[in-house]
Amino acid sequence: MRRTIDWDAGAVVIVDQCALPATYRTLRLTGVDELIDAIRRLAVRGAPALGAAGALGVALAAFRHGGDHAAVRADAERLAAARPTAVNLRWGVRRALARLDGGADAVLAEARSMLAEDERVNRAASQHAAGLVLHRCPRRPLRVLTHCNTGRLAAVGWGTALGTVWHLHADGHVEYVLADETRPLLQGARLTAWELAEAGVPYRLLPDSAAASAIARGLVDVVLVGADRVAANGDVANKVGTYGLALAAARHGIPFVVVAPESTVDKELATGEAIVIEERGADELTHIGDRRVAPDGAAVFNPAFDVTPVELITAVVTEHGVFAEAR
Ligand code: MRU
Repeated sequence: MRRTIDWDAGAVVIVDQCALPATYRTLRLTGVDELIDAIRRLAVRGAPALGAAGALGVALAAFRHGGDHAAVRADAERLAAARPTAVNLRWGVRRALARLDGGADAVLAEARSMLAEDERVNRAASQHAAGLVLHRCPRRPLRVLTHCNTGRLAAVGWGTALGTVWHLHADGHVEYVLADETRPLLQGARLTAWELAEAGVPYRLLPDSAAASAIARGLVDVVLVGADRVAANGDVANKVGTYGLALAAARHGIPFVVVAPESTVDKELATGEAIVIEERGADELTHIGDRRVAPDGAAVFNPAFDVTPVELITAVVTEHGVFAEAR
């Protein structure tokens, strides 16, 4: 399978996640503006993939502007600001920018090494998480609930929470995955269901609003999610709806496990309180596809993420093992 995001002959090549599941196609992005547009439209998305996008975007800028470092830095600034919540985006930008003195080739070499690293660290993080899940959940095979998309589409070539499912499934430990549809942009219905089907993992989609009662009815052994930013104390920003899942998991005594690469940890933030939550356009709620479903002029509150406090989280697992645990 090809990488979700890669570099090819002067272009950033992404799997177009706006076209899935109907069409599997790639887009070749040759300019920073095109890449920023793809990030904002969520054609490339998910925290680890955004880290790669940030780094490759700086490579695009470095080749475009040559020795004009001020112009490269200005493009890098715009890239880092394309979406505010996933810290990986600015982490990727900063890491590639640090090689600017070596020229565009050095920037690209760094970005490319980050692609390989992304797959390696996410495999390791999800392997740790799989071990933890097997340790914490007595029932076999396991019934997993997940939210949003945290598979290879959200990263370069593996995944985080869904990466954990890949490991567990390979060892015959998964009975099924309940995949939240993930309103309003349906990353669960469009992308997670597609990945689970490709991998041959039994799954059922459910409305986000059915997740708490599925947990209450004893249909779930563990909740596995990814993260867009983890504060130093272990608070986690992730796709909106995650906090509600953590509350339900705590209330019903099942593990709630967050899987993320270390690059998602923002050590500059003491707690999750200061994490900037992206608010997206009204159309995502007032319309389904091209059809308006809310009255004209309906006011909208559309946060893309929420913050789950560490005390509701069983463990945040990175490639180094358990980063934070509370219950
Ligand atoms: O808005 P998105 O689709 O970029 O949000 C993605 C998520 O919230 C994922 O759960 C998170 O980035 C982790 S991906 C491994």
